[in-house]
Amino acid sequence: MSLKKIAIIGAGVMGKKHAQTIIQHPLTELVAVCDPFSDAMAKEFAVPNFQDLNELFKNQLIDGVIIANPNRFHVSTAITCMQHGIPCLLEKPLALNTEEALSLISEQEKLNIPILVGHHRRHNPIIQQAKELIEKGIVGEINTFNALWSVYKPDPYFDIEWHRKAGAGVLAINLVHDLDLMRYLNGEIVSVQAMTSHKNRQLDVEDTISILVRFENGALGTLLASDAAVSPWGWDQNTEENKNSFATSPDQDCYYISGSQGALSVPNLEYWNYPENSQKSWAVNLVKNKIEPNKQEDVYLLQLSHFVDVINGQVEPISSPQDAIKNIQLLECIEQAAKEQRTVHLSSLTQLQKTA
Ligand SMILES: NC(=O)c1ccc[n+]([C@@H]2O[C@H](COP(=O)([O-])OP(=O)(O)OC[C@H]3O[C@@H](n4cnc5c(N)ncnc54)[C@H](O)[C@@H]3O)[C@@H](O)[C@H]2O)c1
Repeated sequence: MSLKKIAIIGAGVMGKKHAQTIIQHPLTELVAVCDPFSDAMAKEFAVPNFQDLNELFKNQLIDGVIIANPNRFHVSTAITCMQHGIPCLLEKPLALNTEEALSLISEQEKLNIPILVGHHRRHNPIIQQAKELIEKGIVGEINTFNALWSVYKPDPYFDIEWHRKAGAGVLAINLVHDLDLMRYLNGEIVSVQAMTSHKNRQLDVEDTISILVRFENGALGTLLASDAAVSPWGWDQNTEENKNSFATSPDQDCYYISGSQGALSVPNLEYWNYPENSQKSWAVNLVKNKIEPNKQEDVYLLQLSHFVDVINGQVEPISSPQDAIKNIQLLECIEQAAKEQRTVHLSSLTQLQKTA
């Protein structure tokens, strides 16, 4: 099978991560970089750098692009790539807001070129293992979903001006991935409440947030997070998925799911049920089981393998724009709920869009 020729658009931190992944993958080849402001990464990987997309497409044969430029360019870049017939792996977030996301979806449906959105955690084998346990009925009907993400962002992180501004906080930057996984494991969220706190850093941007969610299947969930708290709980620390950026605490869990038949903690994949043939009662001791979490595989390599399959037309993207827009809508509803101190229903957003 011939190697897929991939170009990277945006040669920053994530662009480099993707470049390293492409050169490791047996089925992909890095053929070009497109970054108007720096050719350092292209030089490092010995490929040409193009300053704009038209130059890139004029000069280079490409099977797929990875878009890792700043968020405000995601939609326009993806549309140009689709107009050239090129499948995209588009870094999260899909768009800056729902309106932009809808314009991207409308173009994508017209042009019919696949887009895989970079919610890379979905490719983690642990999430697939957790999903299988849930689908097997280990938990039964899910009633509660508690998620935690607390780490201490180093103080110099906030020397960068936009990191101090509202909209660049723990909700939009970090929790979008947890919300995506909560939806992936337990279905759509229909309403939210939220409280934010700025007490630790006294900045515009929130440092702590508490979110309540109601799922379509009736389950309730919480997502409690802080980037100003010292703790071992959070996806990155507990899965060891991102060892270069995050310290690890692999013996801890960050998602606790319980239901009519049992409970499951993720990522260590321990689960608890009543002994066979026993009465269901809070007076009966639970039996603890465990499956070994698969932490061996590189999530970015798995995401790239999936992108190759998407380019080949063998699979539908595991995270499509039609799916990822729901994460954007959730962020908007949570911000609104925190600001107005009320429950916000996602359907109110959808209705507003229909009448707009
Ligand atoms: N999946 C994840 O967990 C994850 C993590 C971090 C960042 N991201 C996403 O990746 C994207 C890039 O983030 P980053 O941290 O690498 O940013 P960065 O600032 O390090 O890099 C952005 C790069 O884009 C270049 N650029 C600016 N305008 C451009 C344009 N019009 N066309 C092409 N390139 C342009 C810049 O010169 C820079 O090299 C963002 O969308 C971010 O949200 C995702």
